[in-house]
Amino acid sequence: MFETLPDPRLDGIIALMQAFADDTRMGKIDLGVGVYRDAAGRTPVMAAVKAAETRIVETQETKTYLSLAGDSAFLESMRDLVLGGAVPAGRVAAVGTPGGTSAVRQICELIRLARPEATIWVSAQTWPNHGPLIRAAGLGIRAYRYLDPEAGALDRDGMMADLEAVARGDVVLLHGCCHNPTGVDLGLQDWAEIGALLERRGAIPFVDMAYQGFGEGLDADAAGLRHLAARLPEMLVAGSCSKNFGLYRERVGIAMAVVPEGQRARLAGTLAGLSRQVFAFPPDHGGRVVSTILGDPALRIMWSRELDEMRLRVAANRRGLADALRTATGSDRFGFISGQRGMFSLLPLSPAQIETLRAAHGIYMLGDGRVNMAGLNEASVPVLAQAMAEVLR
Ligand SMILES: Cc1ncc(COP(=O)(O)O)c(C=O)c1O
Repeated sequence: MFETLPDPRLDGIIALMQAFADDTRMGKIDLGVGVYRDAAGRTPVMAAVKAAETRIVETQETKTYLSLAGDSAFLESMRDLVLGGAVPAGRVAAVGTPGGTSAVRQICELIRLARPEATIWVSAQTWPNHGPLIRAAGLGIRAYRYLDPEAGALDRDGMMADLEAVARGDVVLLHGCCHNPTGVDLGLQDWAEIGALLERRGAIPFVDMAYQGFGEGLDADAAGLRHLAARLPEMLVAGSCSKNFGLYRERVGIAMAVVPEGQRARLAGTLAGLSRQVFAFPPDHGGRVVSTILGDPALRIMWSRELDEMRLRVAANRRGLADALRTATGSDRFGFISGQRGMFSLLPLSPAQIETLRAAHGIYMLGDGRVNMAGLNEASVPVLAQAMAEVLR
């Protein structure tokens, strides 16, 4: 039966992780995998998460099935964290999902049910899993220009020109904040212009929010998404708690459809029905950790302080690397790094330069030049800057 199956394509990130693990050199630097790391290179369990877990273990009396949508306290607390009251609760249909990945996939399935001919527009540089998830749901995909690689900034004119070709009923996928992989975010004016364009063309925004709190702060990071929610009749949102709660392996996500009030129940039932076909019930433990933290004032403060610390550490690494590159290269061409947001930036390096960094300097980054800024610390920033200056020479 399986002889004709094609060989699976090796995932680039997994292969890079393996190569890093196999490298015996002291001082090797891992900027590949997209998880937060502290200055010692660890991804610790957040203290607020530990405290919430202890409370759950001590008080939980059953692990029987919940509703298909998941725990209502989780859904409500995440709805409020992301949407912040931009729309009445009666306009939001939500289900819990195993991570943000499944939220993206389930939303694509929802689009296919409602409008199989819809094209999903994605930024030309995007999370490598967006394309496969969209195609696996049988939907068409098109790219809009996003990054001006020379400036390390938004190609605003290119983006708006491409989006003019969006058809009625198409869906435009946007990163809520901390764009992966470019680190280039939309400003409020850009969100407003995209909102106006989508309104004019009768298209729907689909916002992937995987890093809320890693850019400017919890509310600032959601401001663009909230603007669209308040302005447009329909919007889709995929949320992830992997990064901002450090709950990666617990698989905590949410799929939301913001619709006119009269349609909420139909959307909620359809989303729950889609879950039933794949995983039935979302995992509960991580979602319960999130709702315990968000529902308890003291834990919430503890968590948001920890998140602020992570955000500020990444921003300090950005400034440090931009400064060190200025010194090492004698040019300002990498100044854009300090102005970008979130964990990732795309460094304008050739495949040969990226390979030399790995082979000669033990510095690991993705093949397109994506680096995880959280992988750096005070000691490795000058090492990276010096090595980059060498390969650029
Ligand atoms: C843009 C984006 N969306 C969604 C996800 C999904 O994350 P997870 O499924 O681990 O919650 C990620 C993770 O890297 C991401 O970068």
